[in-house]
Amino acid sequence: MKRQPIEWKRDYEVGIEDIDLQHQFFLNLLNRLFNELAATNDMKYRNTLITELSYYAQFHFISEENMMYRAGYPGLEEHHQLHCELIDKLSNQQFYLFLSQSSNIESIVDLLSDWFLHHTLNADKLFAKYLKNESKNTC
Ligand SMILES: [Fe+2]
Repeated sequence: MKRQPIEWKRDYEVGIEDIDLQHQFFLNLLNRLFNELAATNDMKYRNTLITELSYYAQFHFISEENMMYRAGYPGLEEHHQLHCELIDKLSNQQFYLFLSQSSNIESIVDLLSDWFLHHTLNADKLFAKYLKNESKNTC
């Protein structure tokens, strides 16, 4: 598997410091996952790499949803569903990988990188926009 790392771009910033820091950390983990999954055939190690990323994603999602709750964000439930879908897909793929002992990890890597690029640029930016407008409306 040959894959270029995803470089952090200003475009990925949503403008909320905590979220941006967590997204950068997530991207670093994702890039490390790309490299290390490709460099090993040890299925147990592969599984723990995916678990590391999955746990970080869960932490990040809860952190984001708590921020949304505090801000009274009306899109919280919908956003929570998007997070749940990603975690479900990831655990299904991880389970499949574990069962099949397959060396094909492209689908997991594609899932995570597509999610990162689309979710961050769309759903997370919608929340950031809401938060900025709300803070303008307070005295
Ligand atoms: Fe999100």
